[in-house]
Amino acid sequence: MLLLQEKIKNEGKVLSNYVLKVDSFLNHQIDPELMREIGKEFARRFAAEKITKIVTIESSGIAPAVMTALEMGVKVVFARKRKSLTLHDAYTANVYSFTKQETNEISVAKEHLHSSDRVLIIDDFLANGQAALGLIELVQQAGASIAGIGIVIEKSFQEGRSLLEKDGFRVESLAEVASLTNEKVTFKEEEGA
Ligand code: G4P
Ligand code: NA
Ligand code: NA
Repeated sequence: MLLLQEKIKNEGKVLSNYVLKVDSFLNHQIDPELMREIGKEFARRFAAEKITKIVTIESSGIAPAVMTALEMGVKVVFARKRKSLTLHDAYTANVYSFTKQETNEISVAKEHLHSSDRVLIIDDFLANGQAALGLIELVQQAGASIAGIGIVIEKSFQEGRSLLEKDGFRVESLAEVASLTNEKVTFKEEEGA
């Protein structure tokens, strides 16, 4: 998605060989016009899948998930990372973050996921794939089917995609970052160019 690549080139900050900061439009401040285009693109890519529900995780997955859901005419449920006062009867999974070196128990209320649902999972970043695998686990506990995983920014040099594809899941990423070395963002398409 060219618009997203340009945004990353212009506003992204390479913090290390592994971390890209995109706080000006995705992880802190949010650019709603960009999010609208992101929603349209995910809706286009998964148009044939008869999606009935979008599942994401707080907090940065919510904006792209909502815009995609609006395009598709379905609802979004976001997994919570912290215990909620009102969330009792829930599906839960443990998600370990290599980046943060901590485990979060994520959860979704049973009443918002059904075995008849056809789910699209959306998240902001794909790194090691642990958040996506946790979301898959929640959806599978509900007995729902999974059409695929939509990612805004994939770091292709980490193992997330291969883990998800190994389990047979379709992964659609709107920007694939091949490398962050030399303080520079290199997209997959530009590799070797
Ligand atoms: P994984 O789920 O793919 O295994 O990823 P990981 O544990 O490494 O990611 C932990 C958190 O860091 C996630 O956000 C993830 O989106 C974010 N993250 C990973 N790599 C990058 C990166 O290069 N840049 C940025 N900006 N974020 C990255 P989170 O803690 O769940 O926070 P939130 O933003 O959703 O609130
Ligand atoms: Na994030
Ligand atoms: Na996220």
